[in-house]
Amino acid sequence: MNAFTVGLKKWFPGQKRFGLTLFFCLTLSMALMGVQSAEAAITPDGQTGWFVNMGRFAASAHGTFSCEQCHGNMKQGQTMHPNTDNPFFLKEDANRQYDYRRCKSCHNPSYSQYLEGAHAKALSKQRTDSPAESGKLPEHKKAPTCGNCHSSHYVKGHLSRVEIGRGMVSVCGTCHPAQAATYLDNYHGKAAVNLGDKNAAFCTDCHGAHHCRSLKNKTEALATCKRCHPEATEGFTQVVIHNTTQDLPENEKQKRAHVALIQVVTVLMAILVILVVGFFYGHSFVWILRELHEKLRKHK
Ligand code: HEC
Ligand code: HEC
Ligand code: HEC
Ligand code: HEC
Ligand code: HEC
Ligand code: HEC
Repeated sequence: MNAFTVGLKKWFPGQKRFGLTLFFCLTLSMALMGVQSAEAAITPDGQTGWFVNMGRFAASAHGTFSCEQCHGNMKQGQTMHPNTDNPFFLKEDANRQYDYRRCKSCHNPSYSQYLEGAHAKALSKQRTDSPAESGKLPEHKKAPTCGNCHSSHYVKGHLSRVEIGRGMVSVCGTCHPAQAATYLDNYHGKAAVNLGDKNAAFCTDCHGAHHCRSLKNKTEALATCKRCHPEATEGFTQVVIHNTTQDLPENEKQKRAHVALIQVVTVLMAILVILVVGFFYGHSFVWILRELHEKLRKHK
């Protein structure tokens, strides 16, 4: 019997069994918490912690690799990891400090597309314009690197188009919540995410997974729509996919006008529906009153 249970016996004299049960429950819950925090330590959306879940790592697309293949020898200056003098050595935001050029040797196409894309441009702007400030930006304003969208430890290969698409809608949505909400509200989002329709468009079908083009340019937007709507003409690009003005620069007058128009029409439609429904319910109510009145009169 250890000191802990002896202590318990002192607190609960004559209730040894109760003490032991309590001890057992505490140990079990502590163990479960341990398992949970290790499990929750790194999630595919880039949340990071110290622990690598070896079971999930082994089942991932990179599961046969050695740690060193991606991490090198983990040296910084003269200091080497692991370091018993400084347990916090290398404990920084891993997404920011990891050298993602290492991914290039095996994934050159994805890597070069990323470099040409909107996110890499935003990242280098954040790093060169205001290196000190960029660290303090809120998470959703930091331009993403590979690690924000992919979990290098737990990524799975050969997922279906719908599985990848659904996962990415929530990844993109962590930083572009207004665009994700409006997308889920319109035809493509409902069909692709809710119904799992593999022909409908996910975020990346329109924007490109690594290029992430903004599509504000109408010619670019039309070319994108045409991939799935071959009959589309110039007018098609007037369709508002993201019915929101969040993050929209002041000079985007046309889009602001469209969103305002949609809002006005939505309110008018709501009023119309209320009036129509109100009229018919009112009409039926008066009708019932009249029937009742007739019946009561005949009874007399
Ligand atoms: C030594 C080569 C190598 C390195 C380095 C490497 N990968 Fe991979 N990666 C692979 C292989 C092999 C696969 C499995 C491909 C398959 O199953 O078809 C893979 C799969 C993937 C997938 C899933 C692809 C799919 O099929 O959907 C992603 C995403 C990925 N890697 C991202 C990364 C990132 C990010 C890095 C850098 C941190 C990285 N990889 C570093 C070789 C590598
Ligand atoms: C903004 C999010 C985002 C970032 C940043 C990002 N990716 Fe991807 N990546 C995706 C999406 C989404 C897919 C799924 C494929 C698709 O939809 O075409 C993907 C697919 C992949 C694949 C599988 C490609 C294939 O054709 O099977 C690899 C490998 C990959 N990414 C590596 C990387 C590497 C390396 C980086 C960093 C240089 C990176 N990604 C940065 C979103 C991202
Ligand atoms: C395919 C490349 C790859 C392999 C293999 C790999 N890692 Fe990583 N690791 C990364 C990347 C990239 C990061 C930075 C965070 C991110 O992008 O997910 C990282 C981050 C980490 C971190 C920092 C904790 C965190 O996530 O914040 C630890 C610890 C770590 N890895 C340990 C390991 C161990 C242990 C192994 C071997 C079992 C291993 N890694 C294998 C690519 C890899
Ligand atoms: C970690 C946060 C983060 C994630 C995850 C992320 N983005 Fe971004 N995204 C940004 C930032 C920051 C910018 C730059 C915004 C700016 O320059 O105003 C940006 C820019 C963009 C742009 C260009 C907007 C413009 O005005 O030029 C598009 C399109 C875009 N992202 C789409 C996506 C898609 C699609 C995904 C998911 C595959 C995604 N983003 C994932 C943070 C993120
Ligand atoms: C059917 C095609 C389509 C899909 C699917 C789509 N978008 Fe867009 N997106 C557009 C078009 C077109 C624009 C440019 C016009 C506009 O701003 O509405 C745009 C603009 C954007 C912008 C730039 C907004 C700005 O003002 O800077 C971001 C960021 C963005 N989308 C993110 C997303 C995300 C995240 C998803 C998935 C949740 C998504 N998009 C799905 C077509 C699409
Ligand atoms: C990955 C394929 C894909 C892309 C890219 C795509 N769509 Fe669609 N879209 C679909 C599918 C599938 C449907 C439902 C079938 C249909 O009616 O054509 C649909 C339906 C629609 C609808 C409503 C149904 C209808 O036809 O009246 C509109 C509006 C629409 N898309 C607009 C756009 C616009 C605007 C773009 C470009 C910014 C675009 N789509 C890009 C696949 C796509």
